[in-house]
Amino acid sequence: MFFKVGLAAGLIATAFALPQAATTTAASSASSSSPTGYPHPYSYDQQPSINSAAVSSVAAYAGIPASEIPGAADPVVPVVSSQVTGVTSHGPFSGTPATTGALSNTPNGTAIPVLPPNPTALVYNPNGTLNNQEPIPYQPAGGLGTNGTEPVYRVQSDFDYQSILLGLYQEWIELDLFHNILATFSEEEFTAAGLTPSDRFLIEFMADQESGHATLLSSLLGTYNYPFTTVHEAFDFTQKLTRFGESGVWGFQAHLDSRECAQLLDQSIATEARQQMIFRQFAGLFPMPVWFETGIPQSWAWTLLAPYISSCPANSKRLAWQNFPGLYVLNQPNSARRNATQTGFNETAGFGPAAPSSDVPANESCIGYNVTGFDCSASISQNRSIPLSYPGREVFLSWENPGKAVGPNNSYVTSTSAGAPEFVLWVSQLNITYSPLTNITTSNGTNYGMTIQPDVSTYEGDPAINGTMFIALTDANITYTAFNLSNVNPHVVAGPFLYQAG
Ligand SMILES: *[C@@H]1O[C@H](CO)[C@@H](O)[C@H](O)[C@H]1NC(C)=O
Ligand SMILES: *[C@@H]1O[C@H](CO)[C@@H](O)[C@H](O)[C@H]1NC(C)=O
Ligand SMILES: *[C@@H]1O[C@H](CO)[C@@H](O)[C@H](O)[C@H]1NC(C)=O
Ligand SMILES: *[C@@H]1O[C@H](CO)[C@@H](O)[C@H](O)[C@H]1NC(C)=O
Ligand SMILES: *[C@@H]1O[C@H](CO)[C@@H](O)[C@H](O)[C@H]1NC(C)=O
Ligand SMILES: *[C@@H]1O[C@H](CO)[C@@H](O)[C@H](O)[C@H]1NC(C)=O
Ligand SMILES: *[C@@H]1O[C@H](CO)[C@@H](O)[C@H](O)[C@H]1NC(C)=O
Ligand SMILES: *[C@@H]1O[C@H](CO)[C@@H](O)[C@H](O)[C@H]1NC(C)=O
Ligand SMILES: *[C@@H]1O[C@H](CO)[C@@H](O)[C@H](O)[C@H]1NC(C)=O
Ligand SMILES: *[C@@H]1O[C@H](CO)[C@@H](O)[C@H](O)[C@H]1NC(C)=O
Ligand SMILES: *[C@@H]1O[C@H](CO)[C@@H](O)[C@H](O)[C@H]1NC(C)=O
Ligand SMILES: *[C@@H]1O[C@H](CO)[C@@H](O)[C@H](O)[C@H]1NC(C)=O
Repeated sequence: MFFKVGLAAGLIATAFALPQAATTTAASSASSSSPTGYPHPYSYDQQPSINSAAVSSVAAYAGIPASEIPGAADPVVPVVSSQVTGVTSHGPFSGTPATTGALSNTPNGTAIPVLPPNPTALVYNPNGTLNNQEPIPYQPAGGLGTNGTEPVYRVQSDFDYQSILLGLYQEWIELDLFHNILATFSEEEFTAAGLTPSDRFLIEFMADQESGHATLLSSLLGTYNYPFTTVHEAFDFTQKLTRFGESGVWGFQAHLDSRECAQLLDQSIATEARQQMIFRQFAGLFPMPVWFETGIPQSWAWTLLAPYISSCPANSKRLAWQNFPGLYVLNQPNSARRNATQTGFNETAGFGPAAPSSDVPANESCIGYNVTGFDCSASISQNRSIPLSYPGREVFLSWENPGKAVGPNNSYVTSTSAGAPEFVLWVSQLNITYSPLTNITTSNGTNYGMTIQPDVSTYEGDPAINGTMFIALTDANITYTAFNLSNVNPHVVAGPFLYQAG
């Protein structure tokens, strides 16, 4: 985790300038060819330093002088720390926001047009021969950023900056959340959920950071509001939070103008993906019931994340993404049940789109129930005899009207530009699919409706709707694919919500 946060911190630093150390030559070559005043300076203090205590410890273990160990004397970039000022606080925000709304200027339109493919995209002949002369032996022609220009790890557009900033908000909450879970529950509670001391060490490793490395970045950590009260609920929440953290990045990384930032992001999100799977395992869920992990638009990730951030320091950079009205599944499949088919209404704990399934009475619970196919104690794999959901399942929904204050300091406002809701959009694996939204009613400012869980497959043998996936309400059923899903945003009425399909 600290490694990943370190990367994220490095990326956000690159939002303002080049990292030092490794890319000093890039800095000098970039500044020599750039107009005066560029690149813009750092916002944060990221000076690498040498931790002499750590170096002594390494040398003592190896039994040779530090001077003989390659790299031991090199300065290291510090990581973000959640412990510099003690712990961050938890609970809802009760104040008045100084600013409200997403960062915005004067948008040029209301929706991205649906255009035909770029003609040059249809030219290349994928017939297995080399169509063009190779630049050097063993290197086929083409690719972006392959011609020898020095990598510049720096965001290149508002799109890049805002995407990386969203990723950083996500990393901050994870840093806090993993620590919080360890601090909240006792050894007995972890043991009852099937976790060994080594498992707890794994959480600690995922959460740990170098306490000696105080950074100014830490002052940007906010106040968080978490919806769980038991170990199983905590892991269910965490496997949901890391799911949208991972999918949020898959949604934008291929669109970044900076290929260099995309490279680092890939390497950090690979870690996030492992964390998501581990938290599924700790929650007793099948580790990976899908063949492909899906991507979602930035505004979806921000809508999912915002309810759990109650406040941020006044100097935090603001996001430009949309917060959609809240959507909830009233009969969210309960992963704590032996028989999820018996899930009733409102079996969730806390609040928000990632609200965990609530624990049920011991005689109906799968936690610590030692029967193959019905146990959901922490395990490498638990293969449920009764799936959490199934095609044809009636799914009951409620959703909010726009205009609600959400997110840090209640300073963002939910909005939609869509018309009346008609469809439920299911986003999973490589696919999106729609089901009709029916039985729509409104009561005391909250809207209700239902739909039937679709039966679609990515490829034969891989039901598309499984795992922790995403649904939203839309006013149209336009076809999108993984690369252009964000164009659906003007049609989103409410959501997304994390549906626990499996
Ligand atoms: C604004 O929209 C018009 C019409 O679609 C387009 O021609 C123009 O390039 C756009 N300007 C910007 C800054 O995107
Ligand atoms: C493959 O496509 C290239 C580019 O169109 C063409 O030059 C080449 O002859 C093709 N080779 C074969 C074996 O079809
Ligand atoms: C190298 O490729 C980049 C795009 O990746 C391009 O902007 C640049 O002009 C190219 N430089 C040379 C010398 O071809
Ligand atoms: C699971 O619950 C459903 C609905 O109550 C019931 O029909 C089914 O028999 C149950 N299955 C088992 C194995 O208990
Ligand atoms: C579930 O919660 C919704 C929204 O709060 C409420 O309208 C509904 O009556 C609840 N259903 C049950 C069975 O408690
Ligand atoms: C579990 O026990 C409760 C009472 O404590 C009872 O109402 C419920 O029916 C029991 N469930 C099962 C599946 O036996
Ligand atoms: C679970 O049951 C099996 C077989 O009955 C037994 O060997 C095993 O020790 C039990 N495990 C736990 C954690 O109780
Ligand atoms: C999801 O995958 C698991 C594991 O393969 C399977 O048991 C389950 O039936 C699937 N659920 C759905 C809804 O397809
Ligand atoms: C939904 O509406 C249909 C048609 O009006 C009705 O037959 C059905 O019973 C309703 N379903 C529920 C769960 O209310
Ligand atoms: C209607 O909603 C308001 C605000 O959420 C709430 O205070 C009130 O109790 C609700 N009234 C009823 C009858 O549910
Ligand atoms: C799901 O995605 C795959 C891969 O893009 C595609 O081949 C398939 O047709 C899609 N299925 C549906 C139902 O959209
Ligand atoms: C979209 O909705 C229309 C009308 O309900 C329906 O005829 C059509 O099949 C739907 N298309 C998709 C892709 O769901």
